[in-house]
Amino acid sequence: MSGTDGSHKLWGGRFAGGPAPELEAVNRSIGTDFRLWPVDVRLSQAWADGLVTAGVYSPDEARAVREGLERVAARIAGGEAPIASDEDVHTFVDRLLHLEAPGAAGRLHTGRSRNDQVATDTRMWTMDAMDRVDGLVKQLQEVLLEQAERHRDAVMPAYTHLQRAQPVSVAHWLLSHFWPLTRDRQRLAAARRAASVMPLGSGAIAGSAFPVPREQIATALGFAQISQNSMDAVGDRDFIAEALFALTMLATHLSRIGEDLILFGSSEFGFVRFGDAYSTGSSMMPQKRNPDALELARGSSARMLGDLVALVTTLKGLPSGYNKDLQEDKRALFDAVDGMVLLLPAVTGSLATLRFDRVRMLAAVSGAMMATDLADYLVRKQVSFRDAHAAVGRLVREAEDAGIDLGALPFSSFAAAHPAFAEDVLTELGPQRSLEHRNVAGGTGPKSVDAQIANARAEM
Ligand code: ARG
Repeated sequence: MSGTDGSHKLWGGRFAGGPAPELEAVNRSIGTDFRLWPVDVRLSQAWADGLVTAGVYSPDEARAVREGLERVAARIAGGEAPIASDEDVHTFVDRLLHLEAPGAAGRLHTGRSRNDQVATDTRMWTMDAMDRVDGLVKQLQEVLLEQAERHRDAVMPAYTHLQRAQPVSVAHWLLSHFWPLTRDRQRLAAARRAASVMPLGSGAIAGSAFPVPREQIATALGFAQISQNSMDAVGDRDFIAEALFALTMLATHLSRIGEDLILFGSSEFGFVRFGDAYSTGSSMMPQKRNPDALELARGSSARMLGDLVALVTTLKGLPSGYNKDLQEDKRALFDAVDGMVLLLPAVTGSLATLRFDRVRMLAAVSGAMMATDLADYLVRKQVSFRDAHAAVGRLVREAEDAGIDLGALPFSSFAAAHPAFAEDVLTELGPQRSLEHRNVAGGTGPKSVDAQIANARAEM
Protein backbone atom coordinates (compact mmCIF):
# COMPACT_ATOMS: atom_id res chain seq x y z
CA MET A 1 0.00 0.00 0.00
CA SER A 2 1.63 3.23 -1.12
CA GLY A 3 0.66 6.80 -0.29
CA THR A 4 0.98 9.80 -2.60
CA ASP A 5 3.85 11.06 -0.41
CA GLY A 6 5.90 7.98 -1.30
CA SER A 7 5.00 6.35 2.00
CA HIS A 8 4.61 2.59 1.98
CA LYS A 9 2.82 0.37 4.46
CA LEU A 10 2.66 -3.37 4.85
CA TRP A 11 -0.69 -3.06 6.65
CA GLY A 12 -3.49 -0.56 7.28
CA GLY A 13 -6.28 -1.45 4.86
CA ARG A 14 -8.64 -2.29 7.71
CA PHE A 15 -8.25 1.07 9.47
CA ALA A 16 -10.24 4.20 8.66
CA GLY A 17 -7.43 6.63 9.39
CA GLY A 18 -3.68 6.41 9.79
CA PRO A 19 -2.02 5.69 13.12
CA ALA A 20 -1.50 8.49 15.64
CA PRO A 21 1.96 10.05 15.39
CA GLU A 22 2.55 9.00 18.99
CA LEU A 23 1.90 5.36 18.07
CA GLU A 24 4.09 5.60 15.00
CA ALA A 25 6.90 7.06 17.08
CA VAL A 26 6.91 4.27 19.63
CA ASN A 27 6.27 1.53 17.09
CA ARG A 28 9.00 2.45 14.65
CA SER A 29 12.00 0.16 14.85
CA ILE A 30 14.01 1.17 11.79
CA GLY A 31 16.46 3.05 13.99
CA THR A 32 17.44 -0.27 15.49
CA ASP A 33 16.76 -2.83 12.78
CA PHE A 34 18.11 -0.91 9.77
CA ARG A 35 21.31 -2.94 9.99
CA LEU A 36 19.36 -6.08 9.14
CA TRP A 37 18.93 -4.97 5.53
CA PRO A 38 21.62 -7.24 4.02
CA VAL A 39 20.08 -10.35 5.57
CA ASP A 40 16.55 -9.13 4.82
CA VAL A 41 17.50 -8.81 1.14
CA ARG A 42 19.08 -12.29 1.06
CA LEU A 43 16.07 -13.75 2.80
CA SER A 44 13.70 -12.20 0.26
CA GLN A 45 15.76 -13.50 -2.64
CA ALA A 46 15.58 -17.04 -1.28
CA TRP A 47 11.86 -16.58 -0.58
CA ALA A 48 11.24 -15.44 -4.17
CA ASP A 49 12.83 -18.68 -5.39
CA GLY A 50 10.73 -20.64 -2.92
CA LEU A 51 7.60 -19.02 -4.31
CA VAL A 52 8.40 -20.53 -7.72
CA THR A 53 8.22 -24.03 -6.22
CA ALA A 54 5.02 -22.97 -4.46
CA GLY A 55 3.53 -21.94 -7.83
CA VAL A 56 3.21 -18.25 -6.94
CA TYR A 57 5.95 -16.87 -9.19
CA SER A 58 7.09 -17.90 -12.63
CA PRO A 59 10.86 -18.35 -12.84
CA ASP A 60 11.05 -15.06 -14.77
CA GLU A 61 9.14 -13.17 -12.09
CA ALA A 62 11.37 -14.60 -9.38
CA ARG A 63 14.41 -13.52 -11.35
CA ALA A 64 12.99 -10.01 -11.71
CA VAL A 65 12.49 -9.87 -7.93
CA ARG A 66 15.96 -11.22 -7.22
CA GLU A 67 17.54 -8.69 -9.53
CA GLY A 68 15.35 -5.93 -8.15
CA LEU A 69 16.60 -6.84 -4.68
CA GLU A 70 20.19 -6.64 -5.92
CA ARG A 71 19.48 -3.06 -6.98
CA VAL A 72 17.79 -2.37 -3.65
CA ALA A 73 20.92 -3.61 -1.87
CA ALA A 74 23.10 -1.41 -4.08
CA ARG A 75 20.92 1.61 -3.31
CA ILE A 76 21.09 1.06 0.43
CA ALA A 77 24.80 0.30 0.34
CA GLY A 78 25.16 3.53 -1.65
CA GLY A 79 23.62 5.51 1.16
CA GLU A 80 19.87 5.49 0.48
CA ALA A 81 18.23 6.32 3.79
CA PRO A 82 14.81 5.28 5.08
CA ILE A 83 11.98 7.83 4.96
CA ALA A 84 9.77 8.80 7.87
CA SER A 85 7.05 6.32 6.97
CA ASP A 86 9.38 3.30 6.88
CA GLU A 87 8.24 1.53 10.03
CA ASP A 88 10.96 -1.07 10.02
CA VAL A 89 13.65 -2.57 7.81
CA HIS A 90 11.17 -4.95 6.17
CA THR A 91 8.95 -2.05 5.11
CA PHE A 92 11.98 -0.11 3.90
CA VAL A 93 13.30 -2.95 1.72
CA ASP A 94 9.80 -3.70 0.43
CA ARG A 95 9.19 -0.06 -0.52
CA LEU A 96 12.42 0.11 -2.49
CA LEU A 97 11.65 -3.21 -4.15
CA HIS A 98 8.32 -1.79 -5.35
CA LEU A 99 10.32 0.97 -7.02
CA GLU A 100 12.90 -1.42 -8.52
CA ALA A 101 10.64 -4.29 -9.57
CA PRO A 102 7.11 -2.90 -9.79
CA GLY A 103 4.53 -5.58 -10.45
CA ALA A 104 6.26 -8.72 -9.22
CA ALA A 105 7.18 -7.04 -5.92
CA GLY A 106 3.54 -7.01 -4.85
CA ARG A 107 3.41 -10.80 -4.54
CA LEU A 108 6.66 -11.30 -2.60
CA HIS A 109 4.95 -11.16 0.78
CA THR A 110 2.73 -14.12 -0.14
CA GLY A 111 2.60 -16.71 2.64
CA ARG A 112 5.08 -14.71 4.69
CA SER A 113 4.73 -12.50 7.74
CA ARG A 114 7.12 -10.08 9.32
CA ASN A 115 6.88 -12.42 12.30
CA ASP A 116 8.75 -15.26 10.61
CA GLN A 117 10.77 -12.78 8.59
CA VAL A 118 12.23 -10.83 11.51
CA ALA A 119 12.95 -14.02 13.46
CA THR A 120 14.82 -15.39 10.44
CA ASP A 121 16.71 -12.14 9.77
CA THR A 122 17.79 -11.90 13.41
CA ARG A 123 19.02 -15.48 13.40
CA MET A 124 21.08 -14.88 10.27
CA TRP A 125 22.57 -11.75 11.81
CA THR A 126 23.32 -13.60 15.04
CA MET A 127 25.14 -16.42 13.29
CA ASP A 128 27.38 -13.89 11.60
CA ALA A 129 27.88 -11.92 14.82
CA MET A 130 28.93 -15.04 16.73
CA ASP A 131 31.52 -15.75 14.03
CA ARG A 132 32.85 -12.20 14.19
CA VAL A 133 33.14 -12.21 17.97
CA ASP A 134 34.77 -15.64 17.87
CA GLY A 135 37.45 -14.34 15.51
CA LEU A 136 38.19 -11.44 17.86
CA VAL A 137 38.39 -13.72 20.91
CA LYS A 138 40.81 -15.91 19.01
CA GLN A 139 43.07 -12.90 18.40
CA LEU A 140 43.05 -12.11 22.10
CA GLN A 141 43.95 -15.72 22.88
CA GLU A 142 46.81 -15.53 20.41
CA VAL A 143 48.24 -12.49 22.22
CA LEU A 144 47.86 -14.13 25.63
CA LEU A 145 49.64 -17.20 24.32
CA GLU A 146 52.49 -15.19 22.77
CA GLN A 147 53.01 -13.31 26.03
CA ALA A 148 52.95 -16.63 27.90
CA GLU A 149 55.59 -18.06 25.55
CA ARG A 150 57.74 -15.00 26.19
CA HIS A 151 57.38 -15.30 29.98
CA ARG A 152 57.80 -19.01 30.63
CA ASP A 153 60.65 -18.44 33.08
CA ALA A 154 59.41 -15.29 34.84
CA VAL A 155 58.05 -15.75 38.36
CA MET A 156 55.37 -13.79 40.18
CA PRO A 157 53.23 -14.16 43.28
CA ALA A 158 49.85 -15.82 42.89
CA TYR A 159 47.16 -14.55 45.23
CA THR A 160 44.26 -16.07 47.08
CA HIS A 161 41.99 -13.66 48.94
CA LEU A 162 44.28 -11.11 47.27
CA GLN A 163 46.95 -12.14 49.80
CA ARG A 164 50.29 -13.44 48.58
CA ALA A 165 49.85 -17.20 48.30
CA GLN A 166 52.43 -19.12 46.25
CA PRO A 167 54.89 -18.37 43.47
CA VAL A 168 53.78 -19.15 39.91
CA SER A 169 55.25 -18.64 36.48
CA VAL A 170 54.00 -15.55 34.67
CA ALA A 171 53.05 -17.81 31.76
CA HIS A 172 50.83 -19.80 34.10
CA TRP A 173 49.02 -16.65 35.22
CA LEU A 174 48.60 -15.46 31.62
CA LEU A 175 47.20 -18.81 30.56
CA SER A 176 44.77 -18.77 33.48
CA HIS A 177 43.04 -16.12 31.34
CA PHE A 178 43.39 -18.15 28.13
CA TRP A 179 41.26 -21.16 29.04
CA PRO A 180 38.14 -19.22 30.07
CA LEU A 181 38.21 -17.74 26.56
CA THR A 182 38.26 -21.24 25.10
CA ARG A 183 35.08 -21.96 27.05
CA ASP A 184 33.63 -18.67 25.78
CA ARG A 185 34.30 -19.72 22.23
CA GLN A 186 32.50 -23.00 22.84
CA ARG A 187 29.53 -21.02 24.15
CA LEU A 188 29.60 -18.69 21.14
CA ALA A 189 29.58 -21.74 18.86
CA ALA A 190 26.64 -23.21 20.80
CA ALA A 191 24.72 -19.93 20.48
CA ARG A 192 25.46 -19.97 16.76
CA ARG A 193 24.04 -23.50 16.50
CA ALA A 194 20.95 -22.39 18.44
CA ALA A 195 20.47 -19.57 15.92
CA SER A 196 20.88 -21.90 12.96
CA VAL A 197 17.24 -23.03 12.85
CA MET A 198 15.08 -21.35 10.18
CA PRO A 199 11.61 -20.05 11.15
CA LEU A 200 10.75 -18.83 7.63
CA GLY A 201 7.65 -20.61 6.35
CA SER A 202 5.97 -20.27 9.75
CA GLY A 203 3.96 -17.28 8.53
CA ALA A 204 2.38 -15.20 11.27
CA ILE A 205 1.85 -18.18 13.55
CA ALA A 206 0.13 -21.14 11.85
CA GLY A 207 2.51 -21.84 8.96
CA SER A 208 2.51 -20.62 5.36
CA ALA A 209 -0.56 -21.58 3.28
CA PHE A 210 1.67 -22.05 0.23
CA PRO A 211 3.87 -25.14 -0.25
CA VAL A 212 7.22 -23.40 0.01
CA PRO A 213 10.30 -25.66 0.02
CA ARG A 214 11.52 -24.78 3.49
CA GLU A 215 14.49 -27.15 3.48
CA GLN A 216 15.72 -25.72 0.21
CA ILE A 217 15.35 -22.13 1.46
CA ALA A 218 17.13 -23.03 4.70
CA THR A 219 20.09 -24.47 2.80
CA ALA A 220 20.24 -21.41 0.54
CA LEU A 221 20.36 -19.14 3.59
CA GLY A 222 22.95 -21.20 5.45
CA PHE A 223 20.73 -22.66 8.17
CA ALA A 224 21.51 -26.09 9.59
CA GLN A 225 17.83 -26.97 10.04
CA ILE A 226 14.24 -25.73 9.92
CA SER A 227 11.97 -25.12 12.88
CA GLN A 228 9.49 -27.88 13.76
CA ASN A 229 6.60 -25.80 15.06
CA SER A 230 5.41 -22.50 13.61
CA MET A 231 3.93 -21.27 16.89
CA ASP A 232 7.23 -21.86 18.66
CA ALA A 233 9.30 -20.50 15.78
CA VAL A 234 7.82 -16.98 15.67
CA GLY A 235 8.18 -16.42 19.40
CA ASP A 236 11.42 -18.28 20.07
CA ARG A 237 14.25 -15.96 21.13
CA ASP A 238 16.19 -18.57 23.11
CA PHE A 239 19.06 -18.14 20.68
CA ILE A 240 19.36 -14.46 21.63
CA ALA A 241 19.37 -15.35 25.31
CA GLU A 242 22.11 -17.89 24.60
CA ALA A 243 24.13 -15.38 22.60
CA LEU A 244 23.74 -12.78 25.34
CA PHE A 245 24.78 -15.27 28.00
CA ALA A 246 27.86 -16.22 25.97
CA LEU A 247 28.69 -12.51 25.60
CA THR A 248 28.06 -11.84 29.28
CA MET A 249 30.43 -14.62 30.36
CA LEU A 250 33.02 -13.41 27.86
CA ALA A 251 32.62 -9.86 29.18
CA THR A 252 32.99 -11.19 32.72
CA HIS A 253 36.28 -12.81 31.76
CA LEU A 254 37.51 -9.63 30.09
CA SER A 255 36.55 -7.77 33.23
CA ARG A 256 38.66 -10.12 35.34
CA ILE A 257 41.65 -9.79 33.01
CA GLY A 258 41.14 -6.04 33.27
CA GLU A 259 40.96 -6.10 37.04
CA ASP A 260 44.18 -8.15 37.37
CA LEU A 261 46.03 -5.80 35.07
CA ILE A 262 44.66 -2.63 36.63
CA LEU A 263 45.96 -3.85 39.99
CA PHE A 264 49.27 -5.07 38.60
CA GLY A 265 49.77 -1.78 36.76
CA SER A 266 49.34 0.32 39.90
CA SER A 267 52.49 1.81 41.45
CA GLU A 268 51.94 -0.38 44.51
CA PHE A 269 52.31 -3.56 42.45
CA GLY A 270 54.30 -2.23 39.50
CA PHE A 271 54.34 -5.63 37.78
CA VAL A 272 53.26 -4.32 34.39
CA ARG A 273 53.46 -1.11 32.45
CA PHE A 274 50.74 -0.21 29.94
CA GLY A 275 51.87 0.68 26.44
CA ASP A 276 51.65 4.34 25.42
CA ALA A 277 49.10 3.59 22.71
CA TYR A 278 46.81 1.99 25.29
CA SER A 279 47.20 4.49 28.10
CA THR A 280 45.33 7.71 28.66
CA GLY A 281 46.40 10.77 30.58
CA SER A 282 44.65 13.00 33.04
CA SER A 283 43.51 16.53 32.27
CA MET A 284 44.84 17.63 35.64
CA MET A 285 47.57 15.27 36.83
CA PRO A 286 50.43 15.18 34.33
CA GLN A 287 51.95 12.00 35.74
CA LYS A 288 48.94 9.76 35.05
CA ARG A 289 49.02 6.68 32.83
CA ASN A 290 45.53 5.26 33.00
CA PRO A 291 44.43 1.85 31.69
CA ASP A 292 41.06 3.06 30.33
CA ALA A 293 40.48 0.17 27.94
CA LEU A 294 40.77 -2.31 30.80
CA GLU A 295 38.52 -0.25 33.02
CA LEU A 296 35.97 -0.14 30.21
CA ALA A 297 36.26 -3.91 29.92
CA ARG A 298 35.33 -4.10 33.59
CA GLY A 299 32.61 -1.49 33.18
CA SER A 300 30.90 -2.71 30.03
CA SER A 301 30.43 -6.23 31.33
CA ALA A 302 27.75 -4.74 33.57
CA ARG A 303 25.80 -3.47 30.58
CA MET A 304 26.02 -6.80 28.77
CA LEU A 305 24.62 -8.55 31.81
CA GLY A 306 21.89 -5.89 31.76
CA ASP A 307 21.10 -6.79 28.14
CA LEU A 308 20.77 -10.47 29.08
CA VAL A 309 18.51 -9.69 32.02
CA ALA A 310 16.35 -7.35 29.90
CA LEU A 311 15.85 -10.00 27.23
CA VAL A 312 15.01 -12.87 29.55
CA THR A 313 12.70 -10.62 31.55
CA THR A 314 10.93 -9.71 28.29
CA LEU A 315 10.45 -13.37 27.42
CA LYS A 316 9.25 -14.73 30.74
CA GLY A 317 5.79 -13.19 30.73
CA LEU A 318 4.87 -13.52 27.08
CA PRO A 319 1.95 -15.56 25.80
CA SER A 320 2.89 -17.91 22.97
CA GLY A 321 3.43 -16.68 19.43
CA TYR A 322 4.79 -13.32 18.33
CA ASN A 323 4.23 -10.28 20.56
CA LYS A 324 5.50 -6.79 19.85
CA ASP A 325 7.56 -6.88 23.03
CA LEU A 326 9.92 -9.02 20.98
CA GLN A 327 10.92 -5.99 18.95
CA GLU A 328 13.05 -5.05 21.98
CA ASP A 329 15.18 -8.18 21.51
CA LYS A 330 17.36 -6.54 18.90
CA ARG A 331 18.29 -3.55 21.05
CA ALA A 332 19.75 -5.88 23.66
CA LEU A 333 21.44 -8.12 21.11
CA PHE A 334 22.97 -5.30 19.06
CA ASP A 335 24.08 -3.38 22.13
CA ALA A 336 25.96 -6.37 23.54
CA VAL A 337 27.53 -7.38 20.21
CA ASP A 338 28.52 -3.78 19.36
CA GLY A 339 30.05 -3.32 22.79
CA MET A 340 32.00 -6.55 22.47
CA VAL A 341 33.24 -5.79 18.96
CA LEU A 342 34.63 -2.47 20.25
CA LEU A 343 36.05 -3.91 23.43
CA LEU A 344 37.90 -7.02 22.29
CA PRO A 345 40.45 -5.31 20.01
CA ALA A 346 41.16 -2.75 22.75
CA VAL A 347 41.80 -5.47 25.32
CA THR A 348 43.91 -7.39 22.81
CA GLY A 349 45.95 -4.27 22.05
CA SER A 350 46.38 -3.51 25.74
CA LEU A 351 47.77 -7.00 26.31
CA ALA A 352 49.99 -7.00 23.24
CA THR A 353 51.68 -3.76 24.31
CA LEU A 354 52.00 -4.69 27.96
CA ARG A 355 55.52 -4.69 29.43
CA PHE A 356 56.31 -6.97 32.36
CA ASP A 357 58.71 -5.95 35.09
CA ARG A 358 60.26 -9.34 35.89
CA VAL A 359 62.44 -7.92 38.63
CA ARG A 360 59.55 -6.41 40.56
CA MET A 361 57.43 -9.49 40.12
CA LEU A 362 60.17 -11.74 41.47
CA ALA A 363 60.90 -9.29 44.29
CA ALA A 364 57.27 -9.57 45.37
CA VAL A 365 57.70 -13.30 45.95
CA SER A 366 58.46 -13.23 49.68
CA GLY A 367 59.98 -16.09 51.64
CA ALA A 368 56.72 -16.65 53.50
CA MET A 369 55.16 -17.71 50.20
CA MET A 370 57.35 -20.81 50.36
CA ALA A 371 55.80 -21.86 53.67
CA THR A 372 53.82 -24.59 51.93
CA ASP A 373 57.02 -25.79 50.27
CA LEU A 374 58.69 -25.98 53.68
CA ALA A 375 55.83 -28.08 55.02
CA ASP A 376 56.04 -30.29 51.91
CA TYR A 377 59.79 -30.64 52.57
CA LEU A 378 59.06 -32.09 56.01
CA VAL A 379 56.37 -34.36 54.56
CA ARG A 380 58.97 -35.79 52.16
CA LYS A 381 60.97 -36.62 55.31
CA GLN A 382 58.03 -38.67 56.63
CA VAL A 383 56.59 -35.95 58.90
CA SER A 384 52.77 -35.79 58.87
CA PHE A 385 51.38 -32.75 57.06
CA ARG A 386 49.61 -31.61 60.24
CA ASP A 387 52.87 -31.60 62.27
CA ALA A 388 54.74 -30.01 59.38
CA HIS A 389 52.11 -27.25 59.09
CA ALA A 390 52.43 -26.49 62.81
CA ALA A 391 56.24 -26.42 62.70
CA VAL A 392 56.34 -24.08 59.69
CA GLY A 393 53.64 -21.95 61.30
CA ARG A 394 55.97 -21.38 64.26
CA LEU A 395 58.78 -20.36 61.89
CA VAL A 396 56.51 -17.91 60.09
CA ARG A 397 55.53 -16.36 63.43
CA GLU A 398 59.16 -16.15 64.51
CA ALA A 399 60.15 -14.38 61.27
CA GLU A 400 57.18 -12.04 61.54
CA ASP A 401 58.00 -11.17 65.18
CA ALA A 402 61.61 -10.51 64.18
CA GLY A 403 60.42 -8.43 61.24
CA ILE A 404 62.45 -10.45 58.73
CA ASP A 405 61.76 -12.67 55.75
CA LEU A 406 61.25 -16.38 56.39
CA GLY A 407 64.36 -17.12 54.33
CA ALA A 408 66.45 -14.84 56.56
CA LEU A 409 65.97 -17.03 59.66
CA PRO A 410 69.14 -18.84 60.81
CA PHE A 411 69.27 -22.61 60.39
CA SER A 412 69.13 -22.95 64.19
CA SER A 413 65.52 -21.69 64.08
CA PHE A 414 64.61 -24.40 61.59
CA ALA A 415 66.32 -27.08 63.62
CA ALA A 416 64.46 -25.87 66.71
CA ALA A 417 61.11 -25.89 64.89
CA HIS A 418 61.49 -29.52 63.76
CA PRO A 419 64.33 -32.05 64.01
CA ALA A 420 63.70 -33.27 60.46
CA PHE A 421 64.98 -29.98 59.01
CA ALA A 422 68.51 -30.39 57.54
CA GLU A 423 70.85 -27.73 56.11
CA ASP A 424 69.50 -28.30 52.57
CA VAL A 425 66.23 -26.65 53.66
CA LEU A 426 67.57 -23.22 52.81
CA THR A 427 67.80 -24.10 49.10
CA GLU A 428 64.17 -25.23 49.28
CA LEU A 429 63.18 -21.67 49.96
CA GLY A 430 63.79 -20.46 46.41
CA PRO A 431 60.78 -19.74 44.19
CA GLN A 432 62.28 -21.73 41.32
CA ARG A 433 62.40 -24.80 43.59
CA SER A 434 58.79 -24.20 44.52
CA LEU A 435 57.82 -24.22 40.84
CA GLU A 436 59.91 -27.28 40.04
CA HIS A 437 57.96 -29.28 42.60
CA ARG A 438 54.74 -28.52 40.73
CA ASN A 439 55.09 -30.41 37.48
CA VAL A 440 51.77 -32.13 38.07
CA ALA A 441 49.52 -31.77 35.01
CA GLY A 442 47.87 -28.36 35.20
CA GLY A 443 50.42 -27.10 37.74
CA THR A 444 52.84 -24.20 37.49
CA GLY A 445 55.98 -26.36 37.15
CA PRO A 446 58.10 -25.54 34.09
CA LYS A 447 57.40 -28.89 32.41
CA SER A 448 53.66 -28.57 33.03
CA VAL A 449 53.61 -25.03 31.73
CA ASP A 450 55.43 -26.12 28.58
CA ALA A 451 52.83 -28.85 28.10
CA GLN A 452 50.07 -26.33 28.77
CA ILE A 453 51.49 -23.95 26.16
CA ALA A 454 51.61 -26.81 23.67
CA ASN A 455 47.98 -27.69 24.45
CA ALA A 456 46.96 -24.06 24.08
CA ARG A 457 48.74 -23.90 20.73
CA ALA A 458 46.87 -27.00 19.63
CA GLU A 459 43.56 -25.35 20.67
CA MET A 460 44.29 -22.50 18.30
N1 ARG B 1 9.76 -4.70 13.74
C1 ARG B 1 9.18 -5.91 14.18
C2 ARG B 1 10.09 -6.60 15.20
O1 ARG B 1 11.20 -6.26 15.28
C3 ARG B 1 8.93 -6.81 13.02
C4 ARG B 1 7.82 -7.77 13.25
C5 ARG B 1 6.52 -7.04 13.23
N2 ARG B 1 5.42 -7.94 13.33
C6 ARG B 1 4.22 -7.49 13.57
N3 ARG B 1 3.26 -8.37 13.66
N4 ARG B 1 3.95 -6.23 13.73
O2 ARG B 1 9.68 -7.47 15.91
